[in-house]
Amino acid sequence: MPKPTKMIIDTDPGVDDAMAILYAAHDPAIELLGLTTVFGNVPVQKATRNALRLCDLAGLDIPVAEGAARPSVVAPLDPAEAARIHGAEGFGPVPPQTPQRTPTPEDAADFMASMARRYRGEVTLCAIGPITNVAEALRRHPDFAANIAKIVFMGGAAQVPGNVTPYAEANTYQDPHALAEVLASGIPTLMVGLDVTMQTTGSRADFAALAKRHPDHCGFLQRPSDEYIGIYEERGLPGCGLHDPAAVIACVAPDLFNTSKIPLSVVLKGPEIGRTLPGVGATTAVCAGVDAQQLEERFFSMFG
Ligand code: RIB
Ligand code: CA
Repeated sequence: MPKPTKMIIDTDPGVDDAMAILYAAHDPAIELLGLTTVFGNVPVQKATRNALRLCDLAGLDIPVAEGAARPSVVAPLDPAEAARIHGAEGFGPVPPQTPQRTPTPEDAADFMASMARRYRGEVTLCAIGPITNVAEALRRHPDFAANIAKIVFMGGAAQVPGNVTPYAEANTYQDPHALAEVLASGIPTLMVGLDVTMQTTGSRADFAALAKRHPDHCGFLQRPSDEYIGIYEERGLPGCGLHDPAAVIACVAPDLFNTSKIPLSVVLKGPEIGRTLPGVGATTAVCAGVDAQQLEERFFSMFG
């Protein structure tokens, strides 16, 4: 067994974030160093509460560091928009629960930088919300870009439409300037965008069977997933996109993806703001294809 990948997950939990974090807690290929939280699916205070709650559920005794409450430049999205998909509290109809622990005194950007410094060249940063905290770490810590091993982010849409506007995917739409800074940083970066995450799905039956097999950790997922999947079913889709789980899995099973290194930039104004545009900008690895069946199998079988 190769050494597990040291990982920090930057997250806005969020239903598919919960799937991704519970998965990461079970994958022996991942050594989860901590979670950092960001605004997005819910305000950052709720994201922190939800991240701590997920740690309680998964028995993860790891730091949770709170990060940005708003985007770098653009105005925040109307919270009601995200609540329509993830629920006002972030886990669909599931009422908020007070977590057992509290966040670290360090904020997200400082936590990322100190972990990258401590494990120089070893840490993979998996960003599955707006990438604001990573841009802040770059601004605040000149050594961060050299210390972090790689960034894998769920976001963008290279050859397919967006999911917030016809052009922009939600995470990139919520902080396009932050993504532009990260792409320009020179850090080895992999984009796991809608091009592949919309091919990886989970149905109501999948999550019901998972909850039945593992009620302790996955029973929690069933109700939030049901509501979340309902939104996809309304669009005639068989299940929800496994957006954030796909990004976490891409960190440890890259062979499930076809990637190409292309110039990539982010549109920063106008009607196409937040669009990830191939052909211009810094060279970035972009996932163009995925073995969806293998990825779904890895995800749903990981919980034991
Ligand atoms: O577009 C999907 C992304 O936006 C996922 O990370 C989801 O959790 C939301 O943050
Ligand atoms: Ca997310």
